[in-house]
Amino acid sequence: MRLKDKVAIVTGAASGIGKEIAAVFIREGAKVAIADLNQQAAEAAARELDATGKRAVSVVMDVTNEGQVNAGTAKVIETFGALDILISNAGIQIVAPLVDFDFSKWKLLLAIHLDGASSPRERRWRRCTGRKAEPSSTWARSTPRKPPCSRHPM
Ligand SMILES: NC(=O)c1ccc[n+]([C@@H]2O[C@H](COP(=O)([O-])OP(=O)(O)OC[C@H]3O[C@@H](n4cnc5c(N)ncnc54)[C@H](O)[C@@H]3O)[C@@H](O)[C@H]2O)c1
Repeated sequence: MRLKDKVAIVTGAASGIGKEIAAVFIREGAKVAIADLNQQAAEAAARELDATGKRAVSVVMDVTNEGQVNAGTAKVIETFGALDILISNAGIQIVAPLVDFDFSKWKLLLAIHLDGASSPRERRWRRCTGRKAEPSSTWARSTPRKPPCSRHPM
């Protein structure tokens, strides 16, 4: 993988699959923002994955909260000076019989898995790259050589 010095945000990276993705990215030389709504777990994961604090930072981010997404993304760009990769991993599972699966649970699921992977970061990304983001849960795009975006397109 060509991840050396790439800057990535991994949402839901305080645990599970996201944390493993973050670990692999750091091992491959990337700088990673552990973005999660669970602040304590995100801080612990960042410390565990990179005790030096140079390759991993924790960011409090509920992906359904546009303000937190924008603030967290700004913090990552401020800390690492770029943003190359977004992994929209944050998610929940609600397993319940259809009769118990009420509308509020349905809306929460969509807010995290659909809205959470969409517009706020697209705006941030567009500001950074001048391009429209592709609708994908995981993507990496080339970026023009223009701060605060990456100088090393992928
Ligand atoms: N584990 C599986 O078998 C499986 C299968 C299919 C899909 N997935 C998907 O993969 C992703 C990761 O799954 P996992 O098993 O590692 O889950 P997990 O529960 O271990 O980790 C999910 C992380 O996302 C965080 N999170 C939840 N809601 C959030 C929000 N609104 N904003 C920011 N962070 C939030 C949680 O705090 C947690 O740290 C999820 O999207 C899940 O739906 C998992």
